[in-house]
Amino acid sequence: MKRRKFLRTGILGLASPVILAKSKNMKNNKNNPVVLSTWNFGLAANEQAIKILRKGGNAMDAAEMAARHAESDPDNNSVGLGGLPDEKGKVTLDACVMDSKGNAGSVAFLQNIKHPVSVARKVMDDTKHVMLVGEGARQFAVSSGFEETNLLTKKSENEWKKWLKNKREMTPHETHDTISVLVQDKNGDLSGACTTSGWAYKMHGRVGDSPIIGSALFVDNEIGSAAATGLGEEVIKTVGSFLVVEMMRQGYPPEQACKEALNRVIKLHNGKPDFQIGYIAMRKDGEVGAACLKWSFEYALYKKNKNKLYKTKGMM
Ligand code: GLY
Repeated sequence: MKRRKFLRTGILGLASPVILAKSKNMKNNKNNPVVLSTWNFGLAANEQAIKILRKGGNAMDAAEMAARHAESDPDNNSVGLGGLPDEKGKVTLDACVMDSKGNAGSVAFLQNIKHPVSVARKVMDDTKHVMLVGEGARQFAVSSGFEETNLLTKKSENEWKKWLKNKREMTPHETHDTISVLVQDKNGDLSGACTTSGWAYKMHGRVGDSPIIGSALFVDNEIGSAAATGLGEEVIKTVGSFLVVEMMRQGYPPEQACKEALNRVIKLHNGKPDFQIGYIAMRKDGEVGAACLKWSFEYALYKKNKNKLYKTKGMM
């Protein structure tokens, strides 16, 4: 490639000068905090974030508190306490956080700790690493003051025992309700969090997208943020949340950016994916959007002092 052409098309051969100009001019949404989270339990989680934001707190603290709320709920069988276990009856948790400065932390395959999202936050704040897994993550959590606790509730144990009788393959959308939370605070700064117990009755050792920065969550404080729910394996293969943010950088509005990322998945599955993925996206100017592959998907949005549940229909 001749040098002149290279300079015109940019390093990746993709970014045009017009698109870059759009991203640079992205307006910052100040003094109007926004909270966006996945599924109907996002409503109660958002309330926790709102409490922090009303006191002038920052987006990272608010996102962490929202995620912690879902982790504490024993009736939520896909996150934290009460999460459905893997095939061996172990509750194993994945979580991550990312803040407005591009810092990130995550934990995967963590057991016996109720708030993996806060352990992920500690990894981000107190270590030089991004990701800790399994026994190492548990030891780090305990040494950081987290209590160990049995996360397998009687209800989830009974469900697992029932499943053991015929070991029916669970379709991920039957049980996958990861909570992902995106927050913009009064300064317009963006942060996010994601936490899950993953695919019910998964193979022991399976890790999904939720602790993978760029897959389940990505934050770029100049452009926007995005997060995922649904079949983690397919989100990982398309680096979904990073892709959604990059689409917004190229000028796609949030909902369209989510759809473009899902189009990649649809194409990979010859137009017929038989699983669910949902994305939520928040742009620096406070605009939000969501989309899902199939059926429908609910998300909770707090904006202009109202916290409401919305439903979006699948693309196919
Ligand atoms: N999206 C959560 C998981 O696949 O584990």
